[in-house]
Amino acid sequence: MGKIKRGIRYILRPPTKLATCAVISAVAIVVLGFFASVNAFVAFTNTSEFCASCHSIAPAVEEWRESSHYANAHGVRAECADCHVPDTLGATLAAKVRAINDIYHHFAGTIDTPEKFEERRPVLAQRVWDAMEADDSLACRSCHSWDSMDLAQQSGRGGRNHREAMEEGKTCISCHQGVVHKLPGEDEDPGFDLGL
Ligand code: HEC
Ligand code: HEC
Ligand code: HEC
Ligand code: HEC
Repeated sequence: MGKIKRGIRYILRPPTKLATCAVISAVAIVVLGFFASVNAFVAFTNTSEFCASCHSIAPAVEEWRESSHYANAHGVRAECADCHVPDTLGATLAAKVRAINDIYHHFAGTIDTPEKFEERRPVLAQRVWDAMEADDSLACRSCHSWDSMDLAQQSGRGGRNHREAMEEGKTCISCHQGVVHKLPGEDEDPGFDLGL
């Protein structure tokens, strides 16, 4: 105890200017190191490889690789985190906290077979939709924006819908569910003969 108290007193009232300098530098290094490692942590956990380390058993990764957001004529790729970890500090930290739930369910094996995943897909998809409705599809808007849309170049249906959406304040996800992944139940046997 005595030693700790003496240590604290030393830090609060160092005997020389040189020591003050050393203490301030040490604190600065620790603080900088902390921010650098938070940054490195966020960067690492935002790579699609990191997401795939858990999600490749379920079809999420495969669906992404087959989508127009993986490879397209423009050579622009949307990584998992571009859509699922909105690019603001608050949203990033909230996403990391939600990940604690993912880690729990990973070890509990909640979605560790394609069948279990399909069964749980409605719940998971609904969570994503709710989050995107709540933040006005923030992640989509980091690449797309009303401002940069040339409505005249879009298909008639797209252009008409977008003009109406802008006027009525509708958000992307209300109309564009299933832009990368299959929708819940999409693969299911409809239970009757389609006659095709
Ligand atoms: C440690 C393993 C693990 C990692 C790493 C991981 N996930 Fe998950 N994720 C899961 C599990 C398990 C669930 C299912 C949670 C449940 O059933 O409640 C899940 C659920 C989800 C959902 C469904 C919505 C929700 O909030 O539950 C999304 C979207 C998602 N993950 C995206 C990602 C993205 C993007 C990354 C990379 C930035 C990622 N995950 C990294 C294991 C992981
Ligand atoms: C990293 C940037 C990026 C993000 C994030 C992004 N997109 Fe895209 N999106 C693109 C690019 C680039 C294309 C053009 C692909 C092509 O040429 O086919 C595209 C195409 C589209 C298309 C038309 C083609 C199709 O597959 O139907 C829709 C609709 C679309 N995006 C909606 C969305 C929605 C909704 C979100 C959010 C959930 C989103 N995008 C997030 C870059 C992005
Ligand atoms: C009211 C419904 C609605 C809303 C809201 C909406 N869209 Fe669309 N969007 C459509 C329809 C319908 C199409 C045409 C689809 C087709 O032709 O297959 C379309 C087409 C697109 C395309 C393809 C354009 C083309 O012609 O290549 C992109 C990209 C797109 N939307 C992105 C977005 C983004 C990003 C948002 C949010 C900022 C958004 N949309 C909001 C209905 C909507
Ligand atoms: C262009 C945006 C976009 C990209 C890129 C993207 N997702 Fe998604 N993801 C969505 C949307 C939107 C949903 C909500 C369900 C839907 O509409 O398909 C979703 C839903 C999910 C779900 C919930 C289950 C489901 O299928 O609905 C998981 C898990 C998931 N994504 C994981 C991933 C992983 C892992 C990657 C990268 C390999 C990824 N996503 C890439 C937009 C995206």
